[in-house]
Amino acid sequence: MMIDEINKAAQLLMEGKVVAIPTETVYGLAGNAFDENAVKQIFEIKQRPLFNPLIVHIKSVDYLEQIAKDIPVKALELAKHFWPGALTLVLPKKDIIPSIVTANKETVAVRVPSHPVTLQLLNRLEFPLAAPSANPFGYISPTKASHVEKQLGNKIPFILDGGSCEKGIESTIIGFENDEPVLYRVGAISKEEIEKCIGKIIIKNNAASKPEAPGMLSKHYSPNTKLLVSNGIIASINEHKDNNVGFLLFSDNTELQKRKFISLSDNNDLEEAAQNLYAAMHELDAMGFDFIIAELFPNSGLGVSINDRLHRAQKD
Ligand code: TXA
Ligand code: MG
Repeated sequence: MMIDEINKAAQLLMEGKVVAIPTETVYGLAGNAFDENAVKQIFEIKQRPLFNPLIVHIKSVDYLEQIAKDIPVKALELAKHFWPGALTLVLPKKDIIPSIVTANKETVAVRVPSHPVTLQLLNRLEFPLAAPSANPFGYISPTKASHVEKQLGNKIPFILDGGSCEKGIESTIIGFENDEPVLYRVGAISKEEIEKCIGKIIIKNNAASKPEAPGMLSKHYSPNTKLLVSNGIIASINEHKDNNVGFLLFSDNTELQKRKFISLSDNNDLEEAAQNLYAAMHELDAMGFDFIIAELFPNSGLGVSINDRLHRAQKD
């Protein structure tokens, strides 16, 4: 019974332990956001550098004022429109959030996840959950409980299994500079959707060594197998006729004939492709290829977010 599992996760979290939780984007590695020790364990288990702050997951828009202050009008509009959902807001933090959560920044990243299991869990707790994606730092994010099991199973006491993640790609992150919204990480909600709600938004999604949102670190979300992004997939297929290569494609491609490939959406549907992206990367990574060639997506809507992850997955 799911209820028993949710209770078990709640119990462990109340004891200060770290557990994996499902969200609609990717699985998270969660701990009590008010408990420094629990948060410290998250960084250790994930091998995440301490300069990279975590997202705090809360149960409702109403809870926001418990942890954030000086909330811009547009932030509240976004929260009301997209929560529960795959939008993270970076806002001035209240003192109740320990500085380890925010890597000493004066801001906190926060969202209300929409996965019903995790919403039930949050409603059972008297604290919010700090949770990065439940993957070892730099590796592909998990979109199924089995991905978490494989990567971190021996380091955590429990994985709350909520099935496959519906969105399959991390939340979109928006902060404010002089009260103007700035998009720090493209993600499961497209720029177009955000702009429909609050108007024009600037993107600062660049890679840097100490970035505003280190999801922006240029090497990230990477399989162990070398991954190459291809602008011209047909040329790449022909070029690698004799190589041990796996292809990651948007949709089925007749040129491939007997080559090994995974296609993300045979109806050319970007939402479906995003949903399948990480699972396909996990799968290709386990198939023993010398390298993986990934096809670039059309650069609009969720295609932008998928291309962003593919570029970051590409190793130098
Ligand atoms: O969809 C998601 O956002 C998933 C699920 C589990 O909620 N979480 C996730 O967490 O992707 P993580 O830790 O992998 O990425 C969090 C991102 C990082 O890029 C981090 O730098 C940024 O959020 N971030 C956190 N706090 C921040 C802050 N105060 N200012 C700017 N960026 C922040
Ligand atoms: Mg991550």
